[in-house]
Amino acid sequence: MGLYTVILAAGLGTRMKSSTPKVLHTINGKPIISYVFEAARALKPLQIVVVIGPESNGIQEALRDERVTFAVQKEPKGTADALRTASRKLVGLKTGKGTVLILSGDTPLVNPLTLQQLVTVHKRKRESLSVLSFIAGGDHAYGRIVRDGDNLTSIVEDKDATEEQKTISEVNSGIYAMESSILALLREVNMNRQKGEYYLTDIVGIAARRGYRVGSHVLGYETELTGINTRRELCMAGLYLRDRIVSKWFDKGVSFIDPESVMIDPDATIGMDTVIYPNVFIEGKSMIGSNCKIYPNTRVIDSTIGDNVIIKDSSVIESSNIQDRAEVGPFAHLRPGSIIGVSAKIGNFVEIKKSVIGNGTKASHLSYLGDAEIGDHVNIGAGTITCNYDGLNKYKTVIEEGVFVGSDTQLVAPVKVGKGAYIGAGSTITKDVPPMALAVSRTSQKNIEKWAEGKSDGKDKHKTK
Ligand code: UD1
Ligand code: CA
Repeated sequence: MGLYTVILAAGLGTRMKSSTPKVLHTINGKPIISYVFEAARALKPLQIVVVIGPESNGIQEALRDERVTFAVQKEPKGTADALRTASRKLVGLKTGKGTVLILSGDTPLVNPLTLQQLVTVHKRKRESLSVLSFIAGGDHAYGRIVRDGDNLTSIVEDKDATEEQKTISEVNSGIYAMESSILALLREVNMNRQKGEYYLTDIVGIAARRGYRVGSHVLGYETELTGINTRRELCMAGLYLRDRIVSKWFDKGVSFIDPESVMIDPDATIGMDTVIYPNVFIEGKSMIGSNCKIYPNTRVIDSTIGDNVIIKDSSVIESSNIQDRAEVGPFAHLRPGSIIGVSAKIGNFVEIKKSVIGNGTKASHLSYLGDAEIGDHVNIGAGTITCNYDGLNKYKTVIEEGVFVGSDTQLVAPVKVGKGAYIGAGSTITKDVPPMALAVSRTSQKNIEKWAEGKSDGKDKHKTK
């Protein structure tokens, strides 16, 4: 018999106080719903149904590349109503039987192994309904697992719990495995008067009274099963995830100086012997090679960095590629589409956009290089600027191998500087420079002897009023 999965994600998430649906809030750059979906997908179910509200284009957009069925719950009338909405879309169950794994759209950190364990226990114990529970610490509002001896009898929601029930530490994670036969009992769930919703948790008591085998199993930890209802819980989940990701990279040979200050996105990778300094953010699908040093306050977004690369303090690297042994920063900004060659050096206050920088090429200070193709072993002097934009279009600057660009040069694109040429400092280059030539475009210096002498008696000459 096959496995089906339902993800409940149509709730309003009012406790977030946000105009964005709760499950679209992000943890480490990724929407909550995507984490839940990936956990579901790992179990390879026959079908995944996601229950969404009528205005949930964002959720459909977030899952656009996935094999998923959406079920629209017209009004958020509670988790039981949400599951009933989903059950109509479980095509394989219309005629046959199967096991349905129900996940809460707001529980993103659940480990697929824990889900697998729930399904395994559910089958081994031949239960019709199995609840994944955990032990909660501190103040919380989870549904309490109520037992009679060892037998699960019901789940009581926090709002409806007696003082005595509130002391129960085993709580409902909102994740269940159930046989398709249980779905028929959803009709019997009554509206909860406190909240005006149909509670899925009521199905536990109903099934137990009907003599179905029901059970609850403490299989995971609170850190993994935390439901996100508020901004504080969203932040806490991000911190748990941060710790989990950092320990994974520690185990793979990455060093962190201050792991509590870094953020590594779940899809990023880091090579062995790389050292990550404080306040470093590695975002999206970035790939960092081995033996690199990423100094403080740097952000790397969707970029590929080779081996033995050094990124000095306070640099921003966006959708770029930095090759082996290159050095970037401090205070450098690589904008999308920049390729920095092997052993190249990009120094202080240099901005690069959509440009190729050749192997061993240096732009060490205060430059803007945009839409440029720069060959190997070029020296870009301080203050060099590619004038790539005329207000309407962008143009390309080509600088061939071995060129020396003097300081404070403007290259008015489109323009090409041939192999081995020199450009004198302070030049504005508007025409192509042939290979091996020297181009100088500034006016030559004129000295007027004794010019200043008659201007004052020589005292306090530069004083302003
Ligand atoms: C629920 C459980 C509670 C459990 C907790 C675990 C119920 C009644 N209570 O409480 O026992 O301890 O999760 O985190 O189920 N949803 C819909 N449609 C709706 C309402 C909710 O799709 O009409 C979705 C939400 O988007 C959310 C999930 O169901 O992803 C859970 O709903 P939520 O309101 O967060 O339930 P809790 O009060 O946290
Ligand atoms: Ca919740």
